Amino acid sequence: MAKMIISQDTPSYKINKNIYGHFSEHLGRCIYEGLFVGEGSPIPNKNGMRTDVVDALKAMNIPVLRWPGGCFADEYHWMDGIGPREKRKKMINTHWGGVVEDNSFGTHEFFELISQLDGCEPYICGNLGSGTVREMQEWVEYITFDGLSPMAQLREENGQKDPWKIKYWGVGNENWGCGGNMTPDYYANEYKRYATYCRNFGGNRLYKIACGPNVADYNWTEVLMREAGWQMNGLSLHYYTIPTGNWGKKGSATDFTEEEYFKTMRSTMRMDELITKHSTIMDKYDPMKRVGLMVDEWGIWTDVEPGTNPGFLYQQNSLRDALIASVNFDIFNKHADRVQMANIAQTINVLQAVILTDGEKMLLTPTYHAFKMYAAHHDATLLPMHFTSPDFTFGDAKPAEPPRRSPRSEESDTIPAVWGTASENEAGDVNITLTNIDHLNAHEFTIELRGADEIKSVAAEILTADKVTSHNTFDAKENVTVKKYDGCVIKGGNITVKLEPKSLVLIQVNQ
Ligand code: AHR
Repeated sequence: MAKMIISQDTPSYKINKNIYGHFSEHLGRCIYEGLFVGEGSPIPNKNGMRTDVVDALKAMNIPVLRWPGGCFADEYHWMDGIGPREKRKKMINTHWGGVVEDNSFGTHEFFELISQLDGCEPYICGNLGSGTVREMQEWVEYITFDGLSPMAQLREENGQKDPWKIKYWGVGNENWGCGGNMTPDYYANEYKRYATYCRNFGGNRLYKIACGPNVADYNWTEVLMREAGWQMNGLSLHYYTIPTGNWGKKGSATDFTEEEYFKTMRSTMRMDELITKHSTIMDKYDPMKRVGLMVDEWGIWTDVEPGTNPGFLYQQNSLRDALIASVNFDIFNKHADRVQMANIAQTINVLQAVILTDGEKMLLTPTYHAFKMYAAHHDATLLPMHFTSPDFTFGDAKPAEPPRRSPRSEESDTIPAVWGTASENEAGDVNITLTNIDHLNAHEFTIELRGADEIKSVAAEILTADKVTSHNTFDAKENVTVKKYDGCVIKGGNITVKLEPKSLVLIQVNQ
């Protein structure tokens, strides 16, 4: 049986819980219907926020929520979204379906949602692309200033006397593309100008996040770190997994071949290479790793569900997506010295959603369950793991003997089958998550917890299903769900675990 060593005696970095963060944009049915239904809705809600969704997000300990976009952020004018709702301006959501945005969900509603999501931190992305420095400056003042000022007064007139608190502040989104098609030098200058006027009022301290590169644009990272690194706290990175690699025909969310499954898993693993290379550039300018790499948009992006508005980006979510989530989590955790946040796109009804709704109906996707299992690692200390993964080889159910150790480039036909994270939380509990992306073969391991006290017991749960295409529907909500797992036992002071094909396992160790 293959061996895995987890070094409890050499703890590593802290895994920032914000790696398990979310992103909700004014796009399709994410904000409207997904999160906000309004006080008069027949759908049960508290102050307009749907109760079933808020409860589900709380149950998975959502740590941070990015809003209002995305591309939408760079044409959002926050003053249109305050004051009496019936008087708020209506605008066209030009990016997403050309529908009318009535601004009924604005700053006050966002902070109401945040307050209902116990312990979730707000992350606002300001408008640099089509806004002004003054507009962004005044938004910060409106939210955080405590005292006599025009914006604090306006906030009070709109029913909120006390300022809110906000830490994470994005200065534009994708400014190399939908946020203004800028060059890195131009954006670096703009960033510095805007960031200068995003003030720290009272006890509020902003963590300013600059727009980072588009996937592998290493020059963007180089220029931003060189020109503006000293003035930022975080730099974002966006990378989406496209099953076919073709933006024109991305592939179906639930109807895909084994070959497509393999290629999708291979392309999601590219996240590791991107983080490694961008981090190397950041290290050059910031060796103490003061600036966080914020992967504030990631996930699988497929074709929309047939018959739905192409501008709404509504896609189903299969077991494949949960395994994509866990592989990405493992990559983020491994880079926890640099990656301080990641935000899946997007929370509800858009792209790789954790929740889908249909009117008053609601379901939890396989990706939701992966998030909930990984909550065990929130703010825990990463424990180094040493093991050689068996190969997952396309077109060959059984790897050649001895296993081929071919290069794991994007074009390789062999990728690692087994992925994992181990951590120790403040209470001293060790949690291990292991993923087997091989959809045909089980893999077994003996896990030695090096430097550990005697293992008294283990409890495990598993997320798997009949097929990688399996998914939940409003009529079969538990098709893919978490179950207790007995394939993990203590033997000779170690833990032995059988990883079923296409599965994610959480092992909780009691010492
Ligand atoms: O998440 C959907 C879109 O993808 C976002 O609005 C944009 O930032 C990215 O291109």
